[in-house]
Amino acid sequence: MSLAQMLYQWADDRFDLDDAEEFGGKAFPAEDSFLLGEIALFCFVMLALTGIFLGFFFEPSTSATTYEGSVAKFQGEELPAAFASVLQITYDVPFGMFIRRFHHWAAHLFVASIGLHMLRVFFTGSYRNPREPNWIVGTVLAILAIGAAYTGYALPFDEFAATATGIGFNVTTAIPVVGDILAKVVFGGSFPSSATIPRLYFLHVLVIPVLIVAFLAVHMVILIRQKHTEAQREDDIASPASDGGDRAVDREDDTVVVGLPAFPNQAAVSAVVFFLTLATLSLLAGFLPVHNIAAYGPNNPAGTPDLIMPDWFLMWLYGFLKLLPSWLSFTIPVVGIHVSAEFIGGLGIPGLIFLVIFAWPFIDREEEPVHFTADPLNRPWQTSVGVSAVVFIMLASLGGMNNLAARATGLSTGTLNPLLLAALILGPVLAFGIVYRTLREPSTGSAGEVLGDD
Ligand code: HEM
Repeated sequence: MSLAQMLYQWADDRFDLDDAEEFGGKAFPAEDSFLLGEIALFCFVMLALTGIFLGFFFEPSTSATTYEGSVAKFQGEELPAAFASVLQITYDVPFGMFIRRFHHWAAHLFVASIGLHMLRVFFTGSYRNPREPNWIVGTVLAILAIGAAYTGYALPFDEFAATATGIGFNVTTAIPVVGDILAKVVFGGSFPSSATIPRLYFLHVLVIPVLIVAFLAVHMVILIRQKHTEAQREDDIASPASDGGDRAVDREDDTVVVGLPAFPNQAAVSAVVFFLTLATLSLLAGFLPVHNIAAYGPNNPAGTPDLIMPDWFLMWLYGFLKLLPSWLSFTIPVVGIHVSAEFIGGLGIPGLIFLVIFAWPFIDREEEPVHFTADPLNRPWQTSVGVSAVVFIMLASLGGMNNLAARATGLSTGTLNPLLLAALILGPVLAFGIVYRTLREPSTGSAGEVLGDD
C-alpha cells in the first residue's frame, strides 16, 4: 500500500470519505448567476481574514491618547484612541492601508453581491416551495450583513462616520417604549459616549460575525439537502449514470439535477470565482482610496459636517428619514405612546418591507415543490412587483441624497422633498403598470403559452 493510500485509509476510517465522495459527485447546475452567492461567501471569508489583521491594531476606545504617528497635522495632539489607531493602521502599519481598503471594498462587494443574489433568487422564483426556509434564512443574512457594515462604519470614530452613525442612535431612541433601553444596550446610552465604540466593536467583531457564520451554515446545509434549482431544460439530456451507462434524463424530470459534479468541476469553477474576487478586491484596494479619516478629523461633538451620508446600501433608509414629513408623528390616545416620523421612516417602513420580504414565498405560494427556475418574462405580476421594488429603493436612495440633488438642480431641499416623495409613491406604481402591461402584451403571448406544455 502506498503512503497516499495509507493516508487515505487512515482518514477514511475516521471521516467516512465515501460520504464525501458522494457529495463530490453532486451536480451543480452550470448557471453563471448562481455564482453570486459564492461571491458573497468568498467576500465574507476575506472580510474575516482582513478583519483579524485590523483587530491586532485597532483600539476600541474613545479615551484621549497623544498621537505620535506620521500624519503631521495631528502630531502631538490628543485624539480618541480609536481614531488614532485607524490613522496608525492607515499610515504606519506595513500593508495597513492596503488591508484597510481591502476590508472596506470587501464589505461593499459583500452587500452588493448579497443584493444581486437575492434579486436573482427573486426573479427566477427560486424561493418557491420547498426553498422558502432558505429564503427566510437568506433574508436574516442580508439584515446581518447590513448590521455588520453599519457597526464597522462607526469604528474609526472620525467626524463624518460618527455623525452618520448618530442617525442610527436617534432612530433607536425614537422606538416607542423600548427605544431608550435598546439605545443603552447597543450604543451605551448617549451618543457618542465612552461606551459607544466598545459596544459597536463587540457587535461588529463577535456577535454579528458569529450569527452570520451560524446562519450561513444553515443556508448551506439546506442548499445541499434540497439541491439547486435548475434552469428549464430545452431537451432531454443524456447523462452518465452511476453504473457507468448512459441514461437519458427527461426534460420534465425535476427529481434529477443536471449539472457539473461538485468535485472536481464545480470546485474548479469556484476556485476561479474565488481568485477573481480576490483579484478584483486587490485591484480596488490598490487603486481606490476609502473614507479619508485624516481629512475628516476626529469626532467633534460640537460640530456637524456639511455633508452627512451613510453608505449607499443604507441610503434608502436615510431617504425615508429625509422625505417623511414630521406631521406624520402621532400619539396613541389612552396609552400616550408617541410614534415619531423618525421612527416611522427609520424603522417602521423598513420593518414592514422586511416583513413582506420574509413573507414573500407564502404570498407567491406554490402548493407543489418546484425544482426548475422560472423565466421572469413568464411571471408578469411577480416580475412587476420585483421591478417596482427596485424602483422604490432607488427613489428612496435618491431621497437620501436630496442635498446632492438640490446642488445639482439649483433647487432648495424644501422644494425638492415633496417632489421626491411624490416620485417615491408614484414611481413604483408606474413601474409596476409598465412592466405588467409589457409582459401581458398579447403579441408576446400569455405566460402559459410561452412556457408551453410540449
Ligand atoms: C451572506 C449572505 C449570503 C450568502 C453567502 C449566500 C450564499 C449562497 C450560495 C453560495 C448559494 C448557492 C449558489 C447560488 O444559488 O447562488 C445560495 C443559494 C440560495 N440563497 Fe443565498 N446567500 C446569502 C444570502 C441570501 C439572501 C439574502 C437570500 C434571499 C433572501 C438567499 C436565498 C437563497 C436561496 C433561496 C438559495 C437557493 C437557490 C437555488 O436553489 O436556486 N440567500 N446562497
